[in-house]
Amino acid sequence: MSFAIYPGSFDPITLGHLDVIRRAAACFDRLCVCVMVNAEKKSPMFTAEERVALIRASIEGMENVEVEAYSGLLADYAVAKGANVLVKGVRNATDFDQEYQMANINRGIHRELETVLLPASVAYQHFSSTMVREMIKYGQPMEKYVPAPVAEELKRKGRA
Ligand code: PNS
Repeated sequence: MSFAIYPGSFDPITLGHLDVIRRAAACFDRLCVCVMVNAEKKSPMFTAEERVALIRASIEGMENVEVEAYSGLLADYAVAKGANVLVKGVRNATDFDQEYQMANINRGIHRELETVLLPASVAYQHFSSTMVREMIKYGQPMEKYVPAPVAEELKRKGRA
């Protein structure tokens, strides 16, 4: 059985992330979306628990996808879970350079851990959580950028 991990900050999950999840779920038998908790990133928009809940609400109906949060070394987590692939989305050459380096770091920790890079769909090539947070600040309609559960939660919190 092929089992892949799709790690990220997902603060918040964007339509670009959701596109990667859909496409990766079609490539692997099992996909675990992992919210990586980084204590160094101050004042996140959503807590790790909220991000997990919002991703779960966004992937409804995707039978082979699960969501978890983790703080620690990604390579150890993946291998301990029995996954042999890390999936990453790449939007441009800057992403590629970063992901190429991270793939080699992770494979340096566990030789059997492969990284599979999925090129971003053209429609989402310019999407990022940072850009979405900026759009929220300026009151832009959120439905263009994030899955419906995130847009609803932002409205509920009076942030969009
Ligand atoms: O969505 P992001 O913030 O671009 O995701 C980056 C992430 C979380 C995938 C990356 O920072 C990561 O893998 N962090 C976990 C800690 C770790 O294992 N670091 C060593 C790999 S370079």
